[in-house]
Amino acid sequence: MTGTPDEKSLKGLFIRTYGCQMNVYDSERIRDVLRPLGYAPVDAPEAADLVVVNTCHIREKATEKVYSELGQLKRMKEASGGRMTIAVAGCVAQAEGEELIRRQPAVDLVLGPQAYHKLPEMIARASRAIGDRLETEFDTIEKFDALPKTREADGPAAFVSVQEGCDKFCTFCVVPYTRGAEISRRVDDIVLETRSLASQGVREITLLGQNVNAFHGPAPAIEGGDDWTLGQLCRHLSRIGGIERIRYTTSHPRDMDDDLIAAHGDTPALMPFLHLPVQSGSDRILKSMNRGHTADHYRDIIARVRKVRPDIAIASDFIVGFPGESDADFEATMQLVRDIGYAIAYSFKYSSRPGTPAAEMHGHVSEAVKDERLQALQALLRQQQTEFNASQIGKSLPVLVTGKGRNPGQMHGRSPYLQAVHFEGPESLNGQIVDVKIVGASLNSLTGELARVREAAL
Ligand code: 5AD
Ligand code: SF4
Repeated sequence: MTGTPDEKSLKGLFIRTYGCQMNVYDSERIRDVLRPLGYAPVDAPEAADLVVVNTCHIREKATEKVYSELGQLKRMKEASGGRMTIAVAGCVAQAEGEELIRRQPAVDLVLGPQAYHKLPEMIARASRAIGDRLETEFDTIEKFDALPKTREADGPAAFVSVQEGCDKFCTFCVVPYTRGAEISRRVDDIVLETRSLASQGVREITLLGQNVNAFHGPAPAIEGGDDWTLGQLCRHLSRIGGIERIRYTTSHPRDMDDDLIAAHGDTPALMPFLHLPVQSGSDRILKSMNRGHTADHYRDIIARVRKVRPDIAIASDFIVGFPGESDADFEATMQLVRDIGYAIAYSFKYSSRPGTPAAEMHGHVSEAVKDERLQALQALLRQQQTEFNASQIGKSLPVLVTGKGRNPGQMHGRSPYLQAVHFEGPESLNGQIVDVKIVGASLNSLTGELARVREAAL
């Protein structure tokens, strides 16, 4: 629902989202929280009464982008005669709240990731020019409780937040400081949200958490009320009518317990795709990163998951040029990549973040060496991704149709392995799972021919 706000919804809302899927989810919830106040999404910040910039602090570049965006918004705000309200949400807000207001005085409101349910109250305060402009208290439970339990779906695939925060304290990472301690949501609330989405045609849910497999949420009283693991949660959600596909992201090797691995074998709705970041293949670097596992421990987890679900696609995150990383350490990462064989992976140059232990370590690696290593790693990962995609040619894959393609008559969707799939077909297929025979593959997508429609929609 975008455009200009109609007469009933008096105020335009524009949300710019940076960073991870958790931020994408939070932005959707910010929209939900503001809807009862008459805010409706508009297509461009110029048309908005309220602009929310939902920020990411993970690497220096991400943070710098926020400040340059705020500079542009300041000029728009001036052009609007000061009518526009600018709110900064997310992890930069949490980490640099005071500094943000100092560096960019055009900012009206600053709210951390645990505070956006307080946005209506903050807007009211700001309009009366009373009270604090800054809300960065940690209260995840309060946030989970305060959110509307049902929400408007936006297509056949949706995120559902089940866990937030991180206690792992990897030495390079700001998340434990910006998102706070690990907290799980109650199963009852997750079920309510999932049912509400399913009743609106959602077929695929992605369970979200910074450490999603550390989930241990209280089960419904009728089920005994004990804490459930992510595996138990996935099995439970797979029984909700309409929910045909379940994914989860992002997970940590240390929390990959036996039951979750077993769920990959016994729960058909759990999609054969596992994003399990490893960061490095060198035990020395993994130790210095405080990851709490070795490269062989990671290899063993992947082997066990593949045993119960042989076709599972594996994804990961890597950091090159962590302080002290030698050529031999980097080669160990390359070897791990060769051993595992990834369907897709995200790789980054180490970025020193103020306040994290790694920032104080010796042996920072030069930009030139980081560049060289990143290029080598990405070339290998691209090759694996291309090979993985090409291995689907000739197969018939169930594809969740998510919208119209670029060309007329074309639709697109996603495979069980999270690949984008393009094929010719009628618009009426939108939101359904159809079988598509894969005839072509490239680095980023597959092309196919509609093979079978499961529901009566043609
Ligand atoms: N520098 C580079 N990459 C980082 N990540 C997290 N912190 C940093 C950092 N300081 C990467 C990790 C993580 C992903 C979300 O971002 O690979 O898994
Ligand atoms: Fe950051 Fe490590 Fe926590 Fe992931 S597990 S959010 S990388 S501290």
